[in-house]
This record gives sequence, structure tokens and C-alpha cells, in this order.
Amino acid sequence: MTGEGHGFFGYMLAGMQRTQLRFILLIVLVSIAGCSAGPKKRFFIDGEEMVWSEMDVAQRKHHMEQVVLPVAGSVFRSWRPGEYDEIGCTLCHGAGAASDDFRMPTAHLPRLSGELFLGREFRDYPETTGLKLDRLVPEMAAALGKDAFSLITRRGFGCYSCHLGPDGPMFGN
Ligand code: HEC
Ligand code: HEC
Repeated sequence: MTGEGHGFFGYMLAGMQRTQLRFILLIVLVSIAGCSAGPKKRFFIDGEEMVWSEMDVAQRKHHMEQVVLPVAGSVFRSWRPGEYDEIGCTLCHGAGAASDDFRMPTAHLPRLSGELFLGREFRDYPETTGLKLDRLVPEMAAALGKDAFSLITRRGFGCYSCHLGPDGPMFGN
């Protein structure tokens, strides 16, 4: 065993990737900041100010198209330039989009491990996991006027707002 002399904590740290450590730190900070979150963000729709949860289906579609889609497009294009030039509703909603089924999370996307600290995702897909934590999750949360996922409450907008876990929806989604 190589952890001898470093104690349990040193041993644990040695086994973690730098990106993963950075993520845990970031999440802890965000979680602390999240405790004092202000009022929900309001958007102008049809000349009226409202939050996402107050919108009807038509208003949600409009908001997705006008606000959410451009945000997601810019994040995905920075990941793989050229591959996401013409993204549409199917990117996240899959075939359901054609039949007006916009429920999330969806089986259209790959299922994630369900691990709170995303160990498997950091190991197998470090690049996309890092990008999603740094940009997609916070920017999508802001575009929806929601709080980003908190490790303390285990609620909020995060990976499992789009992806399913091994046995179905997780973390209150
Ligand atoms: C980048 C991923 C992404 C794309 C692209 C996207 N959506 Fe969504 N959509 C979501 C997520 C995530 C939710 C769930 C939001 C929440 O937490 O309530 C959602 C929710 C919705 C809902 C509300 C569903 C419900 O049950 O209330 C509608 C309607 C919708 N989307 C329509 C669209 C339309 C129309 C488009 C294309 C113009 C689109 N979406 C593109 C991610 C996406
Ligand atoms: C707004 C919705 C949304 C959120 C939030 C989201 N993802 Fe994704 N994820 C997607 C979409 C869409 C794809 C598929 C992209 C494609 O098919 O081109 C994807 C694909 C993936 C893949 C497969 C990558 C590959 O190369 O095939 C992994 C792994 C993944 N996501 C992990 C995560 C993790 C971890 C988080 C949270 C940190 C997260 N996702 C948050 C929408 C989302």
C-alpha cells in the first residue's frame, strides 16, 4: 500500500483526479453560496413577467427556443466544434420532441452512474464532465431561473435534470 504515512485522507486524495478534487471544492463553495439564493429569476413572456414553473407548455416551448437552445448550442459547440452547428430540440428531448413529449430526464440520453461525486463520469469522460460542470449546468440553470445542484440538499438543476441514473430518475428529478 502506498498511502502509508499519509494517513487516510492523503490516501484518499491520492486516488482522486485533480479535476475531481477541483469539482468537489467548487461544489462545496457553490452549495454554501446557494444557501442564500435570492428570489427566483423572472423572464418576460408574452409581455408578462414569470418564472419557469409558472409558464404553460406553449410558453415553455417558446422559452426553450429563444433562451435555452442558444445557451446549450454555445456550450456544445465549444466542446466539439462543427458537430453542433444545427442543434434542435431533439438533442436533449430525442424523438419525444416530435410527439410533443418533453419530459425530462429522458432515456434518450445515456444513463449516468448515479454516483454523487461523478467518479465514473470523471474517469471515463473527463472532458465532457468538466465542461458540463463548468458551463452547461450553471448556464442552463440560469437560463431556466433554477438553482444549480447542491451537494448538501442534493436538489437543484444538474446532470440528472437531463440524464437518468441506473434505475431511473434521481435527486428529486
Ligand atoms: C440542452 C438541452 C435541451 C434542449 C436542446 C431543449 N430542451 Fe427542452 N428541456 C430541457 C430540460 C433540462 C428541461 C426540464 C427543465 C426543468 O428542470 O424543469 C426541458 C423542459 C422542456 C419543456 C417542459 C416540459 C415539462 O414537462 O414541463 C418543454 C415544453 C420543452 N423543454 C420544449 C423544448 C423545445 C420546444 C425545444 C427546442 C426548441 C427544447 N425543449 C430544447 C432541455 C432541453
Ligand atoms: C441540459 C441537459 C444536460 C445536462 C444538464 C447534462 N447533460 Fe450530459 N449530455 C446531454 C446531451 C444532449 C448529450 C448527448 C450529446 C450528443 O448526443 O451529441 C449528453 C451526453 C453525455 C455523455 C456522453 C458523452 C459522450 O461522449 O458520448 C456523458 C458522459 C454525460 N453527458 C455526462 C453528463 C454529466 C456528468 C453531467 C453533469 C455534470 C451532464 N452530462 C449534464 C445533455 C445534458
